[in-house]
Amino acid sequence: MKKVTPENIKLLKRAGEKISSITAYDYSTARIVDKAGIDIILVGDSAAMVMLGYPTTHGIGMNEMKIFTSAVARGVERAMVVADMPFGSYQASIEQGVTNACDLIIAGANAVKIEGGSDYIVELTERLTTQGMPVLSHLGFTPQFLNALGGYKVQAKGAEQTEFILKQALKLQAAGAFGIVLEMVSAEAAEYITQRLDIPTIGIGAGKSTDGQILVIDDVLGKYKDFLPKFVKKYADLDSVISDAIKSYISDVKNERFPQDEHIFKMDDTERGKLGYASNNES
Ligand code: KIV
Repeated sequence: MKKVTPENIKLLKRAGEKISSITAYDYSTARIVDKAGIDIILVGDSAAMVMLGYPTTHGIGMNEMKIFTSAVARGVERAMVVADMPFGSYQASIEQGVTNACDLIIAGANAVKIEGGSDYIVELTERLTTQGMPVLSHLGFTPQFLNALGGYKVQAKGAEQTEFILKQALKLQAAGAFGIVLEMVSAEAAEYITQRLDIPTIGIGAGKSTDGQILVIDDVLGKYKDFLPKFVKKYADLDSVISDAIKSYISDVKNERFPQDEHIFKMDDTERGKLGYASNNES
């Protein structure tokens, strides 16, 4: 089974094959997702919300991201593992960003994702890519800029902002980014930008024309119920599956239907006899 590389991802765009991507944060889920054949697994800073219960992605730092990244990397053979650079891990200086990106690669990521397209982010992207750390960029609605953007708002609803994002995307492409996540932008903007880039776009709430799609796994599986954006398609309802299973378990425990004989370790007859118990055959 061949590992997916940034080059493979770029080739998928050229071949007209859509790129599949989803988040994961732990070993066992990453293993299932990888074996199902996904192209990219993102260890997203959405872990702050869906794994750790924070209200925004600002709650997570490098310590947690390294733990989630290494857990996912241990479960994956084929997919490319991309780790998010969390809020506060690259804003202070380019050197801080380089050091933290190195730490995510050491933790097992094959690439890092960075939000934003300012000249500072373009410079950081160039520093990382020239030193062997592939970068997936992230434009449009960028959750780490929530306070500056003033809430969860669809971006690039007009021509001017679309041109602005395209300009940033072209600079990031020139700096070596192998792809660009486009989040919550109008479908027209996503199509316009996608057609003018050589590198692939991966959309989330960006319509059909992007070169690939990405979603948060807890949304896809119906496990995270605090907030469900319009762009999510739910493929399962794990909330009820888990709840029903746990209710059955509680009922079995309360009514002594669990454990059964097949779940129990028993002494042999000699040892049972020493404690005054009848042999297994008689009991
Ligand atoms: O953190 C995340 O999960 C993300 C995406 C879903 C693009 O950035």
